Amino acid sequence: MTVTAPPRVETTPDGLRARLAGRRVAFVPTMGYLHEGHATLIRAARAAVPDGLVVVSVFVNPLQFGVNEDLSRYPRDLERDLGVAGEAGADVLFHPDVATMYPDGFSTRVSVSGVSDSLDGAARPGHFTGVATIVLKLLNLVRPDVALFGEKDWQQLAVIRRMVRDLNVPVEVRGVPTVRADSGLALSSRNTYLDAGQQARAAVLSSALRAVQAAYRSGERQREVLEAAGRAVLSREEALTLEYLTVVGGDMQEREMVDNDPMNRVLVAARLFGVRLIDNMPLDSTAAGTAG
Ligand code: PAF
Repeated sequence: MTVTAPPRVETTPDGLRARLAGRRVAFVPTMGYLHEGHATLIRAARAAVPDGLVVVSVFVNPLQFGVNEDLSRYPRDLERDLGVAGEAGADVLFHPDVATMYPDGFSTRVSVSGVSDSLDGAARPGHFTGVATIVLKLLNLVRPDVALFGEKDWQQLAVIRRMVRDLNVPVEVRGVPTVRADSGLALSSRNTYLDAGQQARAAVLSSALRAVQAAYRSGERQREVLEAAGRAVLSREEALTLEYLTVVGGDMQEREMVDNDPMNRVLVAARLFGVRLIDNMPLDSTAAGTAG
């Protein structure tokens, strides 16, 4: 049996910088309550810098939660996070408190227009500004060579890529395919709000995405028809309230899909049993590096 050392915990920017000085760094930002999806990101980070350091941040970022959202009940368990992160190959876990990240007088916001405005950005005003602000701040603190994000948050990934490009942030951003339960449900820390039976029913989201994928692969290219194929599957689940199911193209700045572009994607957001869930898949499931 291999015994892995837990990562070193750093809570301050100075401690973090001292530990990382002169090393190649791969970085996985998270809000904690780590699951197999995060472990996959951490393993990819380990592979990206075999001789360097893997840093995982655990910070529940208040700036990206709306007033009526789940900030206070967002699941937290640092001991468990240390185990998952260490097992997956993390060297350092950065766990600052809110006052360290947002001291009195903090007044800067990073707003990425266009790509942030639709879908989750429209449903959760200010959310992507909160995400972009904390991610840029973390990138400035960690100064990684590579930063890895889950493709499950496809629009978030598009926002971060746009910010990094626009502001010449010296980091390579990598997206890592979504990890799913056997049922097809995309892994998410928020799944813990659902009991086992509800999680099984929530797998309808991935079934709907697969229906759109199947229609696309059989040659369908009309967005209305593709989207209707997904909505038909969702309509069978009476506990579900659909927010959006949409096909998008490229970097999401222009949302139109381009025929046969491997970046074409189908995205869904819905409420089930009071919990907002999102998921997405590539339309061309054979597209290299974009498996959903
Ligand atoms: O995806 C998340 O967990 C968060 O949005 C992130 C990127 C860690 C920023 O708080």
